[in-house]
Amino acid sequence: MFKIKPNRKEIGAEIICDLRKINNKDIEKIKLALQKYGMLFFKKQTLSSNLYLKFSKNFGKLANYPRLKGLSKKYPKITVVQRKISDKGPSFGEQFHTDSIYTKRPPRFTMLLSKLVPRSGKANTEFCSQYLAYKNLPNNIKKKLNSIKGIYSSKGPISVTTIEREKEKGKTNKELKSKHKIIKKINNKFAIYCSPGHFVGFYPFVKEEKKLKKYLFNHQVKRKFQYSLEWKKNQLAIWDNRSMLHQATPFKGNRIMHRITIQ
Ligand SMILES: [Fe+2]
Repeated sequence: MFKIKPNRKEIGAEIICDLRKINNKDIEKIKLALQKYGMLFFKKQTLSSNLYLKFSKNFGKLANYPRLKGLSKKYPKITVVQRKISDKGPSFGEQFHTDSIYTKRPPRFTMLLSKLVPRSGKANTEFCSQYLAYKNLPNNIKKKLNSIKGIYSSKGPISVTTIEREKEKGKTNKELKSKHKIIKKINNKFAIYCSPGHFVGFYPFVKEEKKLKKYLFNHQVKRKFQYSLEWKKNQLAIWDNRSMLHQATPFKGNRIMHRITIQ
């Protein structure tokens, strides 16, 4: 059984299959679907860490994540994203963002495999298609954005959660910063490539910076470009970190996700 079920407006798609039994042809179909829909999810997958790694390697070289510890010595590339019911404050990633955009070469793909989740519908991940966001920009703004870059910092607006955690542990990571063009061609289609969660300024400086920033952030995450993904246990999701913004929704509960990023 192998079936692709696109979401509304083709923002993401569900792939119905058993990842333990797919062949090379299926993998090619999955790669094409990922280009087309930006995010794919697979329900009811009981994958060992070995198989999870093996599947992820089909998409490229695995990246190191500078902010989270590896699952174990044997699995340094799988990082654990965990929230406990007793945790206070916002969850990790609670604002629309692009993973690790403050590095020179942010990962192309991010994968999550759910190990423990709160009640279904309570801790969704929201995705926002930046292909659609670009397509719906007025021409004058497209032109304006096309000539500038964004500056991103690991200590940008979204980092409050990590900074709090670092304080608890008594160590602080040094700030990472990078610049990227705001309009980017990804898989031969234009997309807005800007992470509101890490943005600290335009480069070069624009006169009406505040106004442009407000307009852009508001436009990028309009409801009509969004899809909200519900999690069940043993669900895998992979998304194109360049064409899809994502954010965690606030929740109280226990959750464990195993995460892999791909360069
Ligand atoms: Fe993230």
